[in-house]
Amino acid sequence: MANSFASRTFTALSDLHPNMANLKIIGIVIGKTDVKGFPDRKNIGSERYTFSFTIRDSPTCFVNATSWGNEDYIKSLSDSFRVGECVIIENPLIQRKDIEREEKFSPATPSNYKLLLSENHSTVKVCSSCGVDPKLLSLIHLPVKESPDYYTLGDIVANGQSLNGKIINVLAAVRSVGEPKYFTTSDRRKGQRCEVKLYDETESSFAMICWDNESILLAQNWMPRATVIFASDVRISFDKFRNCMTATVISKTIITTNPDTPEANILLNFIRENKETNVLDDEIDSYLKESINLNTIVDVYTIEQLKVKALKNEGKADPFYGILYAYISTLNIDDETTKVVRNRCSSCGYIVNEASNSCTTCNKDFSEFKSVFLSFDMLIDLTDHTGTLYSCSLTGSVAEETLGCTVDEFLAMTDEQKTALKWQFLLERSKIYLKFVLSHRARSGLRISVLSCKLADPIEASRNLSGQGHV
Ligand SMILES: *[C@@H]1O[C@H](CO)[C@@H](O)[C@H](O)[C@H]1NC(C)=O
Ligand SMILES: *[C@@H]1O[C@H](CO)[C@@H](O)[C@H](O)[C@H]1NC(C)=O
Ligand SMILES: *[C@@H]1O[C@H](CO)[C@@H](O)[C@H](O)[C@H]1NC(C)=O
Ligand SMILES: *[C@@H]1O[C@H](CO)[C@@H](O)[C@H](O)[C@H]1NC(C)=O
Repeated sequence: MANSFASRTFTALSDLHPNMANLKIIGIVIGKTDVKGFPDRKNIGSERYTFSFTIRDSPTCFVNATSWGNEDYIKSLSDSFRVGECVIIENPLIQRKDIEREEKFSPATPSNYKLLLSENHSTVKVCSSCGVDPKLLSLIHLPVKESPDYYTLGDIVANGQSLNGKIINVLAAVRSVGEPKYFTTSDRRKGQRCEVKLYDETESSFAMICWDNESILLAQNWMPRATVIFASDVRISFDKFRNCMTATVISKTIITTNPDTPEANILLNFIRENKETNVLDDEIDSYLKESINLNTIVDVYTIEQLKVKALKNEGKADPFYGILYAYISTLNIDDETTKVVRNRCSSCGYIVNEASNSCTTCNKDFSEFKSVFLSFDMLIDLTDHTGTLYSCSLTGSVAEETLGCTVDEFLAMTDEQKTALKWQFLLERSKIYLKFVLSHRARSGLRISVLSCKLADPIEASRNLSGQGHV
């Protein structure tokens, strides 16, 4: 009943052409922008408001609609529906779109037209999902690009900086959704930022940044390790600070949550099979290629100051970094009972399960199991005149550089040599670069990783320490 009713009253988006009157269309909202205000040129001192959204009524057709008006009208219209809901629009103005100009900022749509909505002439009604043709609702799971038209995260990392600034499609699973952060810019505009970590079969962690409330809202509904997304037209950039590639959601981007495509189903199976072992992700972060440009870390702290900062940072998913001039006060490298070296899988970098000697992360099948390598994996304590930081992780190549020997050289040492090595550090002040990340697995709620630890230049250290006082 509803279906036949729908097909008789609504004009299909594919049939739109200018000058149609008394038009009524229905579609599911697949993308939406934040409300923006602009100074009104005709009415100095006042502002006009606008927001845009994209609606779809068939697998092949979707159009971009923009609404203008006063603040109250635009804000309440924007608040009245979300991505994933169906709307009925009456009397929109149909305009031919200027492809070159529009598609630079808005989703590329197959239609030659766009809709303009005004308070006085058009109406937008949100329809409850019951009574709506299920075919229409299912369009929310259909990406707006061909389903194989995407990069894997591994492709992006492999292409590296040649993709800097490029706009591409990504299919990936959600690993974590960060807390949204709200801030005010220097010109008093409100801003927000939320970092989503993605992963797939090829990469264990890849950051995607959302700068607008609509995509942040969408992301809040994603389930870590359960949701797959197809993000069309995200911008790829090189993050100089973290020395890695990232994706950014822009106004062109349309994100399809849990896409119904063969490629997405394969990825979904992968994440289901790897669910339990992925708990180890916390550990891999400190180990894997997330190599940071140390020159960008400049803030020097005492341990007391770091503890205060860590408390203030509580609840925030984003890491923070700092430099410490301190002594290593615990370094259990000559103690039989403490494991200093562990096996890691050479294809994914995870710690290998010692009991089964297999990598449950990337290769469940023992016969296909590639190889392991030995890696330092230890916890150290750091002390300065203000206190002690316990259980900082020192792993991989950072540990090799710190100790000045490879894992193999270390394993060949006698106990006396190991003790002598230890005392080189316990007596000397070091300059230590640290990374702090929120972690539910760490007892203190923070995971602290050593990024670099070298004996400090005594003059530099004492100058910094004297300059610092007690804050
Ligand atoms: C729609 O098009 C307008 C330009 O006409 C653009 O400003 C806006 O970002 C687009 N947005 C969406 C979600 O379609
Ligand atoms: C809309 O209608 C109101 C009153 O009905 C009028 O004051 C206003 O100028 C109209 N706005 C536009 C953009 O036509
Ligand atoms: C985004 O959300 C925050 C918090 O709810 C709000 O303060 C801000 O005005 C919103 N910004 C936009 C552009 O809607
Ligand atoms: C303090 O440490 C920073 C970072 O290592 C260094 O660049 C700076 O020269 C030091 N300051 C002084 C006064 O030595």
